[in-house]
Amino acid sequence: MLNQDSLTREDIVLLLNLPRNEASALYEKAASVRRQYVGDKVHLRGLIELSNICEKNCYYCGIRKDNRQIRRYNIPDDEVLKAARFAFDNGFGSIALQSGEIQSDSFTRRISRLLRQIKKIGDGSLGITLSCGEQSREVYQEWFEAGAHRYLLRIETSGKGLYGRLHPDDTRHRWDSRVRCLHDLQETGYQTGTGVMIGLPFQTAEELADDLLFMKSFDIDMCGMGPYVVHNDTPLAVHESLLLPVEQRFELTMKMVAVLRIMMKDINIVSATAVQAIRKGGREKILQAGANVLMPNITPGKYRDSYLLYRNKPGTDESAEDAVKNIEALVKAAGMTIEYGKWGDSRHYLEKRKNTSHQH
Ligand code: 5AD
Ligand code: SF4
Repeated sequence: MLNQDSLTREDIVLLLNLPRNEASALYEKAASVRRQYVGDKVHLRGLIELSNICEKNCYYCGIRKDNRQIRRYNIPDDEVLKAARFAFDNGFGSIALQSGEIQSDSFTRRISRLLRQIKKIGDGSLGITLSCGEQSREVYQEWFEAGAHRYLLRIETSGKGLYGRLHPDDTRHRWDSRVRCLHDLQETGYQTGTGVMIGLPFQTAEELADDLLFMKSFDIDMCGMGPYVVHNDTPLAVHESLLLPVEQRFELTMKMVAVLRIMMKDINIVSATAVQAIRKGGREKILQAGANVLMPNITPGKYRDSYLLYRNKPGTDESAEDAVKNIEALVKAAGMTIEYGKWGDSRHYLEKRKNTSHQH
């Protein structure tokens, strides 16, 4: 089955349910597909968590609007630029700018301004991934023109029913709007990434299989997915007793990554930070199961504790300098090497571009 060109929903469910002693063949297959199609290089995106102010109220998230237990921050532009400069100086080819979701003219303009300033560093040396939630098509276009070329917007779950149980039932939290945004991003020309949370309460293996099929049919260029990790001050925390034990949630994440690599051979897949919250050394295992991107957190230290999306979020007491050192060891442990100084674009996207330009 691992050598089949396309996997059915039933195939995927079977793979996700593989017992531990049989799963290693899956991981090895995924690693060899990665080696063959995108190589053994890890691309870095220095993650800057711009602001934890969010207008939304997703039931799982620690920085949701109604959580009054946290201090809200907005990193001043000069500190953001300093962090971007740090990424450049350390040979990271790219950065990722992430924030809570804010839809306002001043926020839009601020991001555009930042993008243009970051583009000046090293004469356009840094690749930029944005992750600032759902926005209008015009805003996506403006940011694209200002210099962002990749965008990550997780669908969270491809199941509309499950999505409804994870979000308030109002116009701000619609599954359809999120899909509309993903289409807009793709049409604007971004390398488009999505992803899901794994091991959510009420989630089934069938739904996870559908998540992978959704990514495939959407023809995404990048994926960032990770385990769901409880945050105590959120409504979803009451369902903690329904969750798989952390070890199983971790293994399920590994399987999801491995199966996706086999299904979509030349996309970029992130080894997500959240795995580290439930399993020490988790990120290298995810690399070994087919991922090829890491996002070391380079948010200035004093803001770290306030971007707590979930329990045990790692790196809150780690400096950006430490993060750089740790990443070297981590990648080495996975038997891979870091690709310094390159954007590390999605091969899938580049191939798609090549093919469409041949047709014209
Ligand atoms: N556990 C895991 N991931 C989470 N996210 C938000 N809350 C949690 C949580 N409790 C993820 C979502 C979102 C991204 C910013 O963080 O998938 O898209
Ligand atoms: Fe806001 Fe994103 Fe958290 Fe939802 S998941 S509350 S949109 S930061």
